[in-house]
Amino acid sequence: MEYLLLKGKQQINGKIKINGAKNAAVAILPAALLTRGTVKIDNLPRITDIDILLKILKSLGATVSSTGERSISIDSSGVNSFRPPQSMVNKFRASYYFMGSLLGRFGQVEIPMPGGCNLGPRPIDQHIKGFTAMGADVELEHGIVKIKARKLKGTHIYLDVVSVGATINIMLAAACAEGKTVIENAAKEPEIVDVANFLNAMGAQVVGPGTDVIKIQGVTELGEAEHTVIPDRIEAGTFMIAAAATRGEVLVEEVIPKHLDAVIAKLKEVGSEIEVGPDWVRVKGNSRLLPTDVKTFPYPGFPTDLQAPMIVLLTQAKGTSFVTENVFEERFNHLSELRKMGAEIKLGGRTAIIEGGHELSGAPIKAMDLRGGAAFIIAGLVSRGETHLAGVEHIDRGYERIEERFKSLGVDIKRIQK
Ligand code: EPZ
Repeated sequence: MEYLLLKGKQQINGKIKINGAKNAAVAILPAALLTRGTVKIDNLPRITDIDILLKILKSLGATVSSTGERSISIDSSGVNSFRPPQSMVNKFRASYYFMGSLLGRFGQVEIPMPGGCNLGPRPIDQHIKGFTAMGADVELEHGIVKIKARKLKGTHIYLDVVSVGATINIMLAAACAEGKTVIENAAKEPEIVDVANFLNAMGAQVVGPGTDVIKIQGVTELGEAEHTVIPDRIEAGTFMIAAAATRGEVLVEEVIPKHLDAVIAKLKEVGSEIEVGPDWVRVKGNSRLLPTDVKTFPYPGFPTDLQAPMIVLLTQAKGTSFVTENVFEERFNHLSELRKMGAEIKLGGRTAIIEGGHELSGAPIKAMDLRGGAAFIIAGLVSRGETHLAGVEHIDRGYERIEERFKSLGVDIKRIQK
């Protein structure tokens, strides 16, 4: 068991280079199974979700070699199983991408229902709807999802909800299907574009990623490719919000600023000064923070993954702020711990009402999910006294050595083994 111990009333200052995007990388690695050749992936974040994914790839028969600090090659010629092991799959949500990739490779996959952060109900009906429309039979037996298709066939699929996972999973299954697949009401997240670029580098024909209509003309096989994962806009947003909340000044480097438009707009509304360069954003927190309203939406809306850090920031803004969660309506696990720290937050339906401007006080708290955990670090930094943060394993799933990153920005924070 590990926990983070951090002192309160600390600013973050300095510069930080952003790592590769978790939510792109966790789809790109399973996508590598669609070729029988070798692919090279650069700019992989060193987080535990990636460690588990690499173990799953190996267990299926892939040869994974490290080619640098953040790059690997995956040779999928020896992949001989369509059954990812239960013990590994249960650990994280993105294991569902093996559905699309193994279905594409073998016409068959047997995989336990995915685990992952508890954000309230997280159905996969839209993934299944896509596979079924392409001609697959889907059964759930003893907690194992069994999907089988004699031949996957391209078709029109209209998603009833805008889903990142379903959009990517259908792209993976469609890459080598017979004929053309059209996904309508597709999600538009930058991570989807990154996965499509990787598929196209392997020889797929995906057109329109980043818009709400994606067309995939199936090809008979995919080949070798090299790909560099895009920067993690959520990691970048976390440090930007932390700078604003602690009234520090941080230069966030190696980002695609366009991906951060919604975050930049909100930080300006709370009074931060923002400067944007070609691949960097500088955030200077204002000592007087202003309240604002935030509504999360699929991209290009304000990301649900930054809702918790934003709520922490708004506890510091004098006045009333409203934060409405439109993506995962029950994604408010973090509120109870924030209240322990003295935050005045009420929940009305899917809207958190924050009476900001009160000092928080450090407390023993526990991360219950990845982004909530990152938000608690920011809460600890703006509080009076020490914060003892358990549940670090949730944070490690998606942030690379988070305490080192904050230390590099001048913060007194330690990881302690119990
Ligand atoms: C992805 O989850 C991300 N995970 C999440 O990031 C992120 O919060 C989310 O997209 C929204 O941006 C990965 O990329 C691995 P969705 P995903 O399918 O794909 C409903 C993080 O912290 N829905 O876009 O699971 C669903 O319940 C993680 O990095 C259905 O109803 O999200 C939700 O309300 C947490 N049926 C909405 O759609 C389905 O079949 C959007 O979910 C699928 C989804």
